[in-house]
Amino acid sequence: MSAQISSTFSTASVRDRRAFDSFGSSTISFSSKFNEIKFFTRIYKSSTICSALKSSEQMELDTTLSPRVNSIKPSKTMAISDLATSLVEAGVPVIRLAAGEPDFDTPAVIAEAGMNAIRDGYTRYTPNAGTLELRTAICKKLKEENGISYTPDQIVVSNGAKQSVLQAVLAVCSPGDEVIIPGPFYVSYPEMARMADATPVILPASISENFLLDPKLLESKLTEKSRLLILCSPSNPTGAVYPKELLQEIARVVAKHPRLLVLTDEIYEHIIYAPAVHTSFAALPGMWDRTLTVNGFSKTFAMTGWRLGYIAGPKHFIAACNKIQSQSTSGASSISQKAAVAALGMGHAGGETVSHMVKAFRERRDFLVSAFRELDGVKVFEPQGAFYLFLDFSYYYGIEVEGFGLIKDSESLCRYLLEKGQVALVPGAAFGDDTCIRISYASSLSNLQTAVNRIKEAILTLKAAVSL
Ligand SMILES: Cc1ncc(COP(=O)(O)O)c(C=O)c1O
Repeated sequence: MSAQISSTFSTASVRDRRAFDSFGSSTISFSSKFNEIKFFTRIYKSSTICSALKSSEQMELDTTLSPRVNSIKPSKTMAISDLATSLVEAGVPVIRLAAGEPDFDTPAVIAEAGMNAIRDGYTRYTPNAGTLELRTAICKKLKEENGISYTPDQIVVSNGAKQSVLQAVLAVCSPGDEVIIPGPFYVSYPEMARMADATPVILPASISENFLLDPKLLESKLTEKSRLLILCSPSNPTGAVYPKELLQEIARVVAKHPRLLVLTDEIYEHIIYAPAVHTSFAALPGMWDRTLTVNGFSKTFAMTGWRLGYIAGPKHFIAACNKIQSQSTSGASSISQKAAVAALGMGHAGGETVSHMVKAFRERRDFLVSAFRELDGVKVFEPQGAFYLFLDFSYYYGIEVEGFGLIKDSESLCRYLLEKGQVALVPGAAFGDDTCIRISYASSLSNLQTAVNRIKEAILTLKAAVSL
């Protein structure tokens, strides 16, 4: 609704205003007040409204947003990726290492299946929970690769794993419930808890603890309000992989709390570097009943733009996720679902094609780990999975740089590295750990080499600033 229109409408009753609001967008194209009034009068013959329109009293448009949206923060990773992209579009040669997106193309066999779906007219709504064909293929995959048994009615396919997580949080949390989130965490988890009017409870783990949740800390923080524990392994942002024994210890703590469910985000399960091994939490003894397993196609199959993820769990909870989806987005893209069936047909863990991608990620990880180990003061954690390096750069906080200002935290350091080194990275604060910054190595080795040189050069300038 234009502000101009609202100013003419100051004395209208609430009912009239509601009606006006619902037509707001159609009035925007009328530029003169005269036309607005004429158009509006034609629609609403009500004398109340007409008299209201004659009023010249000023009234501010109510731009209030819901407390729910006010309580959440926008995604920092997306904001930085967008900023880096606009800098590149403006001709600044920024190396973008902020986004969590594989740099590989979607494998040809998957893309071909998508194109065939379009050619074959497979372009209509699918069942809300996803096609039976895809859900059956997902059940097979979960059984063979993860050792967990589900039937197709225990699966909901969504527009990305992000939606799967959100729907699960909305489905199981009541206002005031606590969502337990080990930190560093994927940026969206706390905000999703807030969207459900639940309280995120962050249980931090530092680089010296290999960024892994301490079961004793978990035990000490659980209360009767604790409803959901969110685990992410391999982890975004740290690349840490939970060993089976540690998950078993966590399961023993969880088992003591009948209200506590576990959502396990396994979207990076196949981007993992031996000897690390992925364990599905639902496969642990006694955990199936209380575990919601989320996975997706974005990372393993380089299908970020296809928007496809899924959740598996006991039917009671999955039906609730399905209900939420039925009143919001409905089923995921029919084309993407056909492509996903082809992806799951590529063999165990995505077969040769995926193992080539993982090999490339591993090479890049090895390069970055040894490059950053050479840099004074930087603490390096060697990731065992995903495609991120989470480095502790706090040694360089507190330095004043001429023409830039104070590097006081991960955010100012990332801003400095963007301005000085033209490398886009994500501040650790976005993931709940301000000592670190995240580098995504979903970029070619030559890009990474240039980025490392630029970062090192920018850091040398910092060191020079200290010694002045
Ligand atoms: C841990 C984690 N979960 C979920 C997602 C969302 O994935 P999708 O593209 O399937 O929505 C991401 C994407 O970055 C992620 O890192």
